[in-house]
Amino acid sequence: MKNTARAHTNIALIKYWGKKDADLRLPLMSSISMTLDAFYTDTSLLIDTEDKKFILNGQEVTGPAANRVFDYVERLQKLFNVAGNFHVISDNHVPTAAGLASSSSAFAALAASFVKAYNLSISPKGLSILARLGSGSATRSIYGGFVKWNKGTNSANSFAEVIDEKPQMDLKLLAVEISEAEKKLSSTKGMKLAQTSPFFKPWIARNDEEIAQMEAAIKSNDFTKLGQLAELSASEMQAINLAAQPGFTYFANETLEIIKLIQELRNKGLECYYTIDAGPNVKILCQKNSCSNIKKYVKNILPNVKIVEAGFGPGITYLD
Ligand code: PMV
Repeated sequence: MKNTARAHTNIALIKYWGKKDADLRLPLMSSISMTLDAFYTDTSLLIDTEDKKFILNGQEVTGPAANRVFDYVERLQKLFNVAGNFHVISDNHVPTAAGLASSSSAFAALAASFVKAYNLSISPKGLSILARLGSGSATRSIYGGFVKWNKGTNSANSFAEVIDEKPQMDLKLLAVEISEAEKKLSSTKGMKLAQTSPFFKPWIARNDEEIAQMEAAIKSNDFTKLGQLAELSASEMQAINLAAQPGFTYFANETLEIIKLIQELRNKGLECYYTIDAGPNVKILCQKNSCSNIKKYVKNILPNVKIVEAGFGPGITYLD
């Protein structure tokens, strides 16, 4: 048995950017995401092996990246009172060109593969909690479509739930890759620093309202409202970072060029919005029939960027 699980990445429309408890990865805010069809991770967990290995895209990984994976599996083993060596075999179908972090799909797939390998009977809610212990954004990758992660107050009630697993909304995401480079400041460090910003507390105070507005936009199939709210959440996150003590930004010059372009396109009547995570790459939210036009405009100002198109993706699936 290879116990292979597939999880898709997700993009936060209302951002998670701050931890209340770093060890349990309890967030200070609730978040909402869209699961993406174009990017996913397949992970198999082989148990009771002779040694411990992490193989990513056919290559053995050692060092900090492997240790994070080993620590995570060992943490789950302790939780379920099981032990033994294991091999984690992952194939990442998250093209570097997408400029998307793969930790959401990576830890969701690993959690799902773990419960299958040990034949544990875990509900999707339980799986979401287990994924959260690996990476915050992975909490939401258990489900497809539009997903909400309720911040909760403790480990047992901080998990994701479906808002709409098969949305009808005409919504596409164009992932524009500006840089393939690893981010200099990890999201863990960025989230910690962000809390020194005077804008952090006011932002948290607005979280319930932003979540309610985004849910209403999703339920009423309102692309315009969804785009405006997603763009605002991303801008708030970046503004907080700039005003942190010391201030920082994940933006590159090209990030701002694309933001300006998106604003110009909107003024021209071509409706699109941006969202950005802990990196320079821009994700453009738009509707199906404007994708190719928007791609052309982006290529016009930045001919060398790569653009990958995505739609709604599914939740966890098992391949064997
Ligand atoms: O859980 P992490 O380390 O993947 O952090 C995710 C942080 C953001 O991508 C910036 C926002 C989010 O909600 O996914």
